[in-house]
Amino acid sequence: MDAAPFPLGAAIDQRETTGAAGQALAHHFTQLTAENHMKPEAWYDDDGTFAPDPQIDALMSYAQAKGLRVYGHVLVWHNQTPAWFFTHEDGTPLTDGAADQQILRDRLRNHIHAVAEYLADGWGEFGNGNPLVAWDVVNEVIDKGTGFADGMRRSEWYRVLGEEFIDLAFTYADEAFNDRHAGPAATGRPVALFINEFDTETADKQDRYHALVSRLLERGVPVDGVGHQMHVSLDVPVESLAAALDRFAAMPVQQAVTEMDVPTGMPVTPSALAEQGHYYEAAFRAFRERADVLFSVSLWGFHDGRSWRDAYGAPLLLDEQLEAKPALAGALAGLRAASPS
Ligand code: G3I
Repeated sequence: MDAAPFPLGAAIDQRETTGAAGQALAHHFTQLTAENHMKPEAWYDDDGTFAPDPQIDALMSYAQAKGLRVYGHVLVWHNQTPAWFFTHEDGTPLTDGAADQQILRDRLRNHIHAVAEYLADGWGEFGNGNPLVAWDVVNEVIDKGTGFADGMRRSEWYRVLGEEFIDLAFTYADEAFNDRHAGPAATGRPVALFINEFDTETADKQDRYHALVSRLLERGVPVDGVGHQMHVSLDVPVESLAAALDRFAAMPVQQAVTEMDVPTGMPVTPSALAEQGHYYEAAFRAFRERADVLFSVSLWGFHDGRSWRDAYGAPLLLDEQLEAKPALAGALAGLRAASPS
């Protein structure tokens, strides 16, 4: 998709780095996200020893060999994180007391620096040959419901450290990726630091997200980007996707579509696939018209057979046989569409 005015990516694992998939991915995309294998649990063995999953090496080496960028996902999340992060040695939960807060701060900083050191040692300093160009530093920190005035998810990170865990995560990531392991040639900040969230096209979540990012920027937290997952459906108006990007456009940040998929619903019929093609065309036209604020646009999967939402109807651009769908034709048409004069 060389017509794209921004890097296009897909979430993958080792299965998409070899054979026909490995060839096709590098043909269609210029960026990859590790669907699961750079999340906190992927860096440790069962007893908590730092032991990076071999899939991390496979993804990084594939990207470097094919000249693809790597969008890191995710340094801090409430999910897929070993339980020991939040407990004492004896298994009792950390409290929000000062000593336990320091324990969790140290664990957070050690995790981020260990990840940065491993990736720099293996694939070069950041901004000087390393394919990794961004991280979702924190993911899904906004509360799904309306239970709390501050709109924050009551994760274990939040229970022990409060909202400050977000400031710390960005500060440690900036130290590790954009200072300690940044190459001499690195200009500016070689690794863009993102916050990432789902349902940002809905009013309530968007309001809470915008308020949080405003607070972080006011506190001088080094947030470079705002991620919009965009796990949507044919019932979600494309206008709401565009409005989500427009809502943050005045902030001193870039934005990214990080995890887009659009199931057709079941059964998957030719007419539903055609409608999906029109949807992707309209969405990618909206993205093209906002290319000036977009760091990248990523699909949450390479083909329908690997989608976590395949049971809801063929969500992605390629089918399981890696054949183009109307969705791919639509995305390409949207990318080529001239902005209305
Ligand atoms: O690796 C184990 C395997 O050893 C085991 O045999 C198997 C069966 O239990 O589970 C495997 O782990 C699964 C993992 O994916 C790797 O395949 C987990 O059970 C499964 O829950 C996990 O699902 C992932 C999900 O995040 C977890 O929350 C999905 O693949 C992944 O697409 C999804 O991605 C998230 C983003 O990170 C954040 N945004 C939402 C998005 C969709 O939930």
